[in-house]
Amino acid sequence: MAVRESIEIDLDRVDRLIEEQEAELEPKHRASIEYRTIAERHVAGGVASSWQASPPHAIFIDRGDGSHIWDIDGNEYVDYHLGYGAMVVGHAHPAIVQAVERQARRGTHFAQPTRDLDVIGENLAERFSLPLWRFCNSGTEATLEAVRLMRATTGRDLIIKIEGTYHGHHDSLMFSVIPDPDLMGPRNHPVTLPQVPGIPRAFADLVRVVPFNDLDAARQAFEENRGRVAGMIVEPSMMNCGVILPDPGYLQGLADLCHEFDAYLAFDEVKTGATLTYGGAVEAFGVVPDIVCLAKAIGGGTPCGAIGATEELYRIVVDGEYDMAGTFNGNPLTMAAMKATLTEVLTRDAYETLNYVYGSLKDGLDAAIERYRLPAYVTGVGAKGSVIYSTTPVREYRDSIGIDERVTYLAWLFQQNGGVFKSPWSKQETWTLSVRHSDEDVRSYVGNFETFARAITS
Ligand SMILES: Cc1ncc(COP(=O)(O)O)c(C=O)c1O
Repeated sequence: MAVRESIEIDLDRVDRLIEEQEAELEPKHRASIEYRTIAERHVAGGVASSWQASPPHAIFIDRGDGSHIWDIDGNEYVDYHLGYGAMVVGHAHPAIVQAVERQARRGTHFAQPTRDLDVIGENLAERFSLPLWRFCNSGTEATLEAVRLMRATTGRDLIIKIEGTYHGHHDSLMFSVIPDPDLMGPRNHPVTLPQVPGIPRAFADLVRVVPFNDLDAARQAFEENRGRVAGMIVEPSMMNCGVILPDPGYLQGLADLCHEFDAYLAFDEVKTGATLTYGGAVEAFGVVPDIVCLAKAIGGGTPCGAIGATEELYRIVVDGEYDMAGTFNGNPLTMAAMKATLTEVLTRDAYETLNYVYGSLKDGLDAAIERYRLPAYVTGVGAKGSVIYSTTPVREYRDSIGIDERVTYLAWLFQQNGGVFKSPWSKQETWTLSVRHSDEDVRSYVGNFETFARAITS
């Protein structure tokens, strides 16, 4: 990344602009705000999942088509949230609608296998270079199963995870996701901090946290715990402090390290899988781990998940020593949508479209950053990208700590007021692209970003 001169952002001005932008946004969402008070009577917090209530208020959606969505107030947006990255196919894609409709007429659930399995398994094996697959219903379930497989196969309990990554909502991995800087401890030996209340302390003793992009720190963790580590789970490109790419050689180094200590490496590709490239991070970075966890984009908008692994790791499942099971695993609606997604929509050609859209968006944002001398840079691959508000490259969670959330919140407000729907703001400004995004959609994003840049610098 080229070092260049940038302005210092005036945070008092940012505070004033936040007030103005919030005042502009609120009246647009009267119906959403009112509906939530009705839902609240019998639905906790009036939303189905806590993050749907991100400030300033929950926005209830009516429908989507292609790259656009409409809320219940009738506002139309270009959708860069895309259901936390699940809708790379775009909304109501005809191939997905047809596949789901056809299956719905033939029955929505049997808890028995159906004849989509061979095509899906073969497609995933080709994309991610792992021979065997099973299915589940979310990213949470996929990483839970990955941890279980690594522990069961090695007979060891300890898992190494990266500081600042999220792997889902279960107790084995929900540590140090967004750790409090005052509590997180030294970099070479971070404290394993539960992210939410209710996780038993005993689980923290089974997780060692290390910084991303640091092979020496990972080696130290293995050496300190000789014979205890079942495996390591890593999001091959970190996605929740903006997009953080792995340094060259880092992922292969981790694979070698895991194997040196007779442990396994799992890639959590819930966000990167079938989004960065056709073969996700495996293809983008040329490293094949022992396990890949998938969800989101592979299901075309249905609740989905998949776990790919080596024959060695799946032996206990195939031999019946471990029942990897779930009532809705391989649900026919999900399988129909997944098959259409993988074989008809997210084909190799789709990634040319995504790369083209990413390139246009990056060019437009880079130009605005340059023009207004913002302390920021653009990073990403394929369907995933972000603006990171830092002049130095963010290579791990700790590098992102100084980024002021008011700036990213303000950028989010400008997008939202300008008709671009983004995932909830935090220290990141991450987007997902769909195969339906157009040049016009890119212009909307870049135009709003310019307005934001002008406002904070003028
Ligand atoms: C990297 C990663 N892993 C796992 C999950 C959990 O997926 P789900 O919300 O489908 O349970 C997420 C969710 O955002 C994620 O980003």
